[in-house]
Amino acid sequence: MSFWGSGCGKLILFGEHAVVYGHPAIAVGLSKETQVILDPRPGPTQIIDAPFRDERLNELIQKALPAQGLAVRIRSDLPTGRGMGSSAALCVALIRARAAYEERSLSFEEIHQQGFELEAVFHGTPSGIDHAVAAAGGAIFYRKDAEIELLEMPALQAVVLDSGQVGNTAELVAAVAEQRPYIDGALNQLGELTSIARTHLDDPEMLGDLMIEAHALLKLLGVSTQALDELVALSMRHGALGAKLSGAGGGGVVIALAPEDPNGLLQAALHRGIQAFPCTLPRP
Ligand code: MEV
Repeated sequence: MSFWGSGCGKLILFGEHAVVYGHPAIAVGLSKETQVILDPRPGPTQIIDAPFRDERLNELIQKALPAQGLAVRIRSDLPTGRGMGSSAALCVALIRARAAYEERSLSFEEIHQQGFELEAVFHGTPSGIDHAVAAAGGAIFYRKDAEIELLEMPALQAVVLDSGQVGNTAELVAAVAEQRPYIDGALNQLGELTSIARTHLDDPEMLGDLMIEAHALLKLLGVSTQALDELVALSMRHGALGAKLSGAGGGGVVIALAPEDPNGLLQAALHRGIQAFPCTLPRP
């Protein structure tokens, strides 16, 4: 008999980096996800199948699972290091798979609390937003140490464009920390944009404008790259309502609020060898 758990990927619409310092952020679940399948077996617990190799995987398994008796399979359609929450999705999938194995049901709060310990393997001081949305799946308004609010929002049509570069969340969070207090004004403004966005979730044009402002502030923090700036510019040239990097930056993806017909943007990306996909946010 197999025991199974899953966690979904995410995109941060507003508030990345600022959320580490107690400002609010909005994140949405993606249709892409990670699954963990556990099968009892004699001997030590071991990964027998994983879509990627990372030395931290073994550390994670040691923390998350009993030392003996399990074969672990990991399946994911989330690329790693792209700001789409692959590590948080894996942590949540592991927590749920272990609970299934132990025939326990976990509350959302329990999953979120356990997620902090596991996610620390990838990045020392997570705000918790990634694994909150990996567990919740919808749209969340998140503030550290406050109750997580599930947001009702109309579906947004978006295009995700992948810079092809890998960002290291731990390094980027540390680089932002080093610039304090000089960048505190920008962090405050990112938090304010989140609060404004929250009251305009049914107004894609307004959200688009706020995304452009958010990208400029993230650029000021030094977490954007030339490739990400070019993807934002490309999106705007092809009719996007707004675009910004999403996640820690230093690579990863840009999220563009789709124009009425996203095909022009998708074709332009394809033409330049850029991986891009349309999606509905939050995941249906
Ligand atoms: C990473 O997806 C989001 C950051 O704000 C880090 C965090 O919140 O833990 C950059």
